[in-house]
Amino acid sequence: MQIAVVGSGYVGLVAGACFADLGHQVVLVDNDQQKLEALQNGQVPIHENFLPELLERHRGKRLTFSDDLLAAVTASAAIFIAVGTPPTEQGEADLSYVESVARAISGAITGYKVIVEKSTVPVYTSDWIRKIILRNAAAPDKFDVASNPEFLREGTAVTDFLYPDRIVVGADNERCAAVLREIYAPLTNGSYYLRQDAIPQPDRSQIPPPLIVTSAKSAELIKHASNAFLAMKISFINAVASICEAVGANVQQVCQGIGTDSRIGPRFLNPGIGYGGSCFPKDLMAFRSVARECGYEFRLLDEVMRINEEQRRRFVRKVRSALWTLRGKRLGVLGLAFKGGTDDIRESPAILLVQELLQEGCKIAAYDPAARKRAEEVLTSGVEFANSPYEAARDADALLILTEWEEFATLDLPRLYNQLRDPIIVDGRNLYEPALMAGHGFTYYSVGRPATAPDSALISASVPAKFNLP
Ligand code: UDX
Ligand code: UDX
Repeated sequence: MQIAVVGSGYVGLVAGACFADLGHQVVLVDNDQQKLEALQNGQVPIHENFLPELLERHRGKRLTFSDDLLAAVTASAAIFIAVGTPPTEQGEADLSYVESVARAISGAITGYKVIVEKSTVPVYTSDWIRKIILRNAAAPDKFDVASNPEFLREGTAVTDFLYPDRIVVGADNERCAAVLREIYAPLTNGSYYLRQDAIPQPDRSQIPPPLIVTSAKSAELIKHASNAFLAMKISFINAVASICEAVGANVQQVCQGIGTDSRIGPRFLNPGIGYGGSCFPKDLMAFRSVARECGYEFRLLDEVMRINEEQRRRFVRKVRSALWTLRGKRLGVLGLAFKGGTDDIRESPAILLVQELLQEGCKIAAYDPAARKRAEEVLTSGVEFANSPYEAARDADALLILTEWEEFATLDLPRLYNQLRDPIIVDGRNLYEPALMAGHGFTYYSVGRPATAPDSALISASVPAKFNLP
């Protein structure tokens, strides 16, 4: 099928490349000339596993790039809108890009077409897109608007797209649903997975994935509700971690105890410095505001967001209690991306913490395996960018672990010990076992677990922030 994808960002580019891998003919439209040139020259503007392979395989064949939206729409049976929906000052989703694309599409409805919302949008958006296109003189029986939300995690977006837990299609009639069933048929009939050149299957996936057809409104709500629930799960375990710190319990043990309940499950129960990224913070605010517009005060989401903010404040207090004073202290920082496996720093808790510690007068040496370039545009002074974790740790008064990159969980500890001025580690992502760190001579702080020091296996858990530790 001929498909147009409008917006070649984190979602549009992955969707376009994966639709091409399913066998469709895809034109990827973007209004950013620089981005288009980069893509046409074979560059890959985002850090995603398997994306380079897919772009290499399909560029110029099943996947072309264009800035001509009208031509792309005229030629396509389905048009996926994947442009940005950034938060406004008030926290609502800014749908102006979606509206301008919908308006432009109206002029090219030459035959029956399905316009599909791929970007995360508030409920009712599909109604608005339909109104906009009707107002711009498209015949009502010549198009339908569907919702097909994405559940892609950055860093694993290609695998998440080709091995989804489910495919959600929000379509208000069967004619429209049939087009989306056809688009995803290689996944739902399992034929994609039989191919020799299929992207490798991740361990947890069930194939073929179910395709769930709902109304457009329900599909729009599924996306917001999914992200809000996942963020709530993270804030919940972060709140439990704070209680563990107060009583000297171990949150990792609590996670094991609750995560083995099949109704809870072990995933998304990793306590840390809080969630970030271009989705959770934005989607919670958008969900909160659209609920309010519909007359429901979703106060639970306020608490999820408050706990998330609080998590960073608690971490700064933990660094202060480890060092007594912060002004002038040299801190090694591992991780700037909002999570491991990506170069994205949008709403990154690591970046927010570095900015806060700079405010406190700390000197920062930071290392991130992928996000350095993007971070340099934001952290323009006060931060030395190191080329390795050990360089970041050199002569530091403490080492902070802020992003859960796998490579940070397997550091050469004796080498690290020799690099640090003081062997103090404050781990915001619980990458190590406290006893192991004490055994290697570190004073080790983490989230929701007692601090440990080389001379005494456990330091008293609830060290009041105003006292410094031995
Ligand atoms: C977007 C939404 O922001 C997010 O809510 C949703 O979950 C997924 O899609 P992302 O892909 O990260 O996320 O957006 P972004 O990285 O901002 O990329 C959007 C692309 O659309 C950019 O390349 C931009 O140049 C392009 N664009 C934007 C257009 O081509 N036309 C426009 O009118 C506006
Ligand atoms: C999320 C959703 O997972 C995905 O389904 C949706 O389409 C987009 O938003 P993403 O934001 O890319 O994906 O990353 P995710 O892996 O969900 O992590 C989000 C944030 O939560 C990161 O900052 C991560 O460090 C944090 N996190 C995640 C935790 O703190 N604890 C966890 O257990 C899991």
